[in-house]
Amino acid sequence: EKGGFRSFMDKEIHDQPHAVADTLLGRTDDKGRLVLDEIHVDEAVLRQVDKIIVVACGTAAYAGQVAKYAIEHWCRIPVEVELAHEFRYRDPIVDRRTLVVAVSQSGETMDTLMAVRHAREQGATVLAIVNTHGSTIPRESDAVLYTHAGPEVAVASTKAFLAQITAAYLLGLYLAQLRGTKFPDEIAEVLTELRAIPAKIQTVLDGADRVRQIAHWMADTSSVLFLGRHVGYPVAMEGALKLKELAYIHAEGFAAGELKHGPIALIEPGQPVFVVVPSPRGRDSLHSKVISNIQEIRARGARTLVIAEEGDEAVTPFADETFYVPQTPVLLAPLVSVVPLQLFAMELATAKGLDVDQPRNLAKSVTVE
Ligand code: BG6
Repeated sequence: EKGGFRSFMDKEIHDQPHAVADTLLGRTDDKGRLVLDEIHVDEAVLRQVDKIIVVACGTAAYAGQVAKYAIEHWCRIPVEVELAHEFRYRDPIVDRRTLVVAVSQSGETMDTLMAVRHAREQGATVLAIVNTHGSTIPRESDAVLYTHAGPEVAVASTKAFLAQITAAYLLGLYLAQLRGTKFPDEIAEVLTELRAIPAKIQTVLDGADRVRQIAHWMADTSSVLFLGRHVGYPVAMEGALKLKELAYIHAEGFAAGELKHGPIALIEPGQPVFVVVPSPRGRDSLHSKVISNIQEIRARGARTLVIAEEGDEAVTPFADETFYVPQTPVLLAPLVSVVPLQLFAMELATAKGLDVDQPRNLAKSVTVE
């Protein structure tokens, strides 16, 4: 069943071009307009939404954080992202005009399910972004937008993450279409860019050997830091989570802008730091600020492992290793930039002789609170 791959995780990481393509499939009409009738929510309700709250746990919550940047930009609706177990026990401000988006691969995570129930009790509309058909969360939600990643067997999530981000982008574009916050041409353009993503992911996967080599050199590492900014911030968090889950290495993700407010104190000679660099074609200042961050940590002896866009030569003087990923519009970049980090975690765990499909102490779906 592993289809010639070393593990389910390896297979699932390599399945990602399909997970994204299949999640996009069949969701536009012949005029290129998004058709999400499958969610069966009254359009009038969606037009009135004045706040979106994403609730999820683990990797799914990072998918929500990526979506926040895109949905706020496209729809001009405020988006909050909250861990389901925190949301549930606060006194969240939720009403009929709130759209709660529950993101879950399994559709069975109890913390997320409790958040769904809590939100519905307060009158919110709940839309589930879920991978597993017939699971509990979609049954208890008002609507469901399925990710079409196919079954995910490895405990730590990879292809479901990319499919969740893709589905959340579709939701954002759909809301923008309904509410007229983006012109149809602009939406069609993003959809065209999204359809180009699977081939770009494949390009990253084709470079997996190099990631493997570097991960093998680093098999003795005891701590790795990850920095990112804007959509690269949740990517950094996810890179750190994968490394904890698979390789049992202490790893932390930070917003790059936060570096000088604390984390820079952690930098000592030899400390490996991954940096997810924003595209130089995006906001100029963002790119140059992250380059300065790389210089700052390098000056303090950090070993810098940089994820950058092809053609970005500004990073090379300060990078010990550079992983280039294909050029991608800023808001969609996480779909490609996270892939080297997933590969890195898997390869490092493999170098340590660990079972990447069944990490210790973790379960694929946690059905207790
Ligand atoms: C954790 C899994 O227990 O639950 C993670 O180990 C996952 O991989 C998280 O991201 C959330 O699970 P789900 O099924 O709700 O997406």
